[in-house]
Amino acid sequence: MQKSGLTVSLGDRAYDVLFAVDGFSEAYFEQAPLALSALIVTNDVVASLYLEDLKNSIAERYKKIHVVILKDGENYKNWESLNLIFDALIKFGCDRKTVLFALGGGVVGDMTGFAAACYMRGVPFVQVPTTLLSQVDSSVGGKTAINHPHGKNMIGAFYQPQLVVCDISTLDTLPDRELGAGLAEVIKYGPITDMQFLIWLETNMNALLRRDRTALLHAIRRSCEIKAQVVAADERESGLRAILNFGHTFGHAIEAGMGYGVWLHGEGVAAGMIMAAELSCRLGMVDAAFVDRLRALIQRAGLPTKGPVVDAADNAGRYLELMRIDKKSEAGEIRFVLIDGPGKAVVRPAPDALVREVIDACCA
Ligand code: NAD
Ligand code: GLY
Repeated sequence: MQKSGLTVSLGDRAYDVLFAVDGFSEAYFEQAPLALSALIVTNDVVASLYLEDLKNSIAERYKKIHVVILKDGENYKNWESLNLIFDALIKFGCDRKTVLFALGGGVVGDMTGFAAACYMRGVPFVQVPTTLLSQVDSSVGGKTAINHPHGKNMIGAFYQPQLVVCDISTLDTLPDRELGAGLAEVIKYGPITDMQFLIWLETNMNALLRRDRTALLHAIRRSCEIKAQVVAADERESGLRAILNFGHTFGHAIEAGMGYGVWLHGEGVAAGMIMAAELSCRLGMVDAAFVDRLRALIQRAGLPTKGPVVDAADNAGRYLELMRIDKKSEAGEIRFVLIDGPGKAVVRPAPDALVREVIDACCA
C-alpha cells in the first residue's frame, strides 16, 4: 500500500506523520515501536467509536494491549486524569518499552504525551489524532501538557511521539462545532507563514465545511507541512516556534477566564487571532483590510469573531491578568504574536493601554 505522509525532521528523533483516508489498517502502524505491551489512552466518546478499530490494527504487534478510558473534556485535562494513566501503567505492569497510543483529540494527545514523557522517565508513544484540530496541530511537534486552573497548558514537557497516524475518515463523526474549532488552527497557518494557503482556504472553505475529503486532506497535509518545518527549526520554542501561537495569548485567556471547556480551544484562538490582528493593525503593521479579510474567513468557518466578556467589572484588566500567566511572558511582560505584513509573524510586547483598547473593541 502506498502510504501518504511527511517526516518531522528532528535527527535521531525524526518521525513520520501518515495520512490514512479509509480507516485504520495494520499497514499504518508498521513504524510503531515493537514491544510486548501497549497501552491505549482514549476517552469515553472516542472509545465507543474507534477503540476496536485501533486495537485490531495493532493486535499483531503487541501481545498485550491494555486500555485506559478517561472522562471526555478540556476540564479533565488535569492531574487527576494524568494519574489515572499512571495508575493504569503501574497496574498493568507496563515497562520502559511499553508503547502508549493516544487515541482522540488534543486533550487525550497532550495528556498521553505528558504521561509518556514522565513514566519511568520516558516511554515511546504514538499519536492517533481523531479531531481536525489534533490532526493539523496538536499531534505534531511534541508539546504535551495539562492545564492549571489559572493557566492553560502550564505544566508539561516537550516530548516527541515516534509516529503520528491521522485517519481522515474519523472526521466523519466529529461534531460541526469541533470541526470549526479545528479550522481555526488551520486558518492560523496562513497569516503567519503562507498567504497562498490563506487564499486556498478562502476558495475552499465551503468544501471544508461539507467535509470534502480531498479538501480536508490538502488542508491537513499543508498544515502539518508548515508545522513540521517550524518544529524542525525550533523544537523547544526558543524563538520561531512561538509564531504558531498566533491568537493563543488572547485565546488562552478566554479559555481560562470562562472556565475550561466553555469556549473550545479553537474558538478562543479564532477570536484571539482577530484581537492579535487588530493589535497588529493599531501598531501599524498591517492595514484594516487585512483584519477584515481574516475576520471574514473566521466568520465563514462558523467561528466567533468577538471575544467574550470574562469579567463584567474590568474585562480588559482581567484579560491582561490572565495573559501575564502566558508561557511567552517574560518578567511579567506579555509578548504577543503579531502579524508584520501578511504572511509574516513576529513576537513582541505591546503597551497595556493599546491592548486594553483592542480588548474593548473586540469583545462582546
Ligand atoms: P478534544 O480533545 O477535547 O476533542 C474535542 C471533542 O471531540 C471531544 O469531546 C472528543 O471526545 C470528541 N472527539 C474526538 N474525536 C472525535 C471523533 N472522531 N468523532 C466524534 N467526536 C470526537 O479537543 P481538540 O480540539 O481535539 O484539542 C484541544 C486541545 O488540544 C486543547 O487542550 C489544546 O490546548 C490542545 N492543543 C495542543 C497543541 C499542541 O501542540 N500540543 C496544539 C493545539 C491545541
Ligand atoms: N500549537 C503550537 C505549537 O505546537 O507550538
